[in-house]
Amino acid sequence: MKGLKVVMLTIIALGLIFSGAFAADVAKGKALFNDTKLGGGTSGKSCNSCHPDGKGVEKAGGKKEFNIMGKKQKGLEAAVNFCIEMANKGKAIDPKSADMANIVAYIKSLKGMAPAKEAPKKKKSIEGC
Ligand code: HEC
Repeated sequence: MKGLKVVMLTIIALGLIFSGAFAADVAKGKALFNDTKLGGGTSGKSCNSCHPDGKGVEKAGGKKEFNIMGKKQKGLEAAVNFCIEMANKGKAIDPKSADMANIVAYIKSLKGMAPAKEAPKKKKSIEGC
C-alpha cells in the first residue's frame, strides 16, 4: 500500500512539473522578447528593439502566413525564427520548445492591444454634509 502511494504521488508530482514546463507563459515570453541573447543572438538587438512593446507584431497572433523582408514564412513560429536568424543574428530555436511556446503566447496576448477604454469613473459625492 505504501509503495502504491509513493508511486501515485510521484506521478502527480511529475505531472505538475511537466504541465508547468509546457504551459505557455506570457510573462516568460515577454522576457525572451526583450532578451538580446535569444537564440544566441549576436546583433545586440532583442525583438523589442525593432518591435517596441510588440509594435508590428500585434496582429501576428492571428496570421498563418507572413511576408517579412520579402520572404514568405508559413506560421508564426517560422516568422519568429526568421527574425531570430535575420534580425537578432541568432540560431532558430526549436518550434516545439517551451521558449517558442512562450514567445508565441506573448505575441498572441498582444492581439487587440487597442487602448483599453477606461471604465467610467463614478463620482463620489458626499451629500448632506
Ligand atoms: C532588426 C529589426 C528586427 C528585429 C530585431 C526583430 N524583427 Fe521581427 N520584423 C522586423 C521587420 C522589418 C518585419 C517585417 C515588418 C513588415 O513587413 O511589416 C518583422 C516582422 C515580424 C513578424 C511578422 C509580423 C506580421 O504580422 O507580419 C513577427 C512575428 C516578428 N517580426 C517577430 C519578431 C521576433 C519574435 C523577434 C525577436 C526574436 C523579432 N521579430 C526581431 C524587424 C525585426
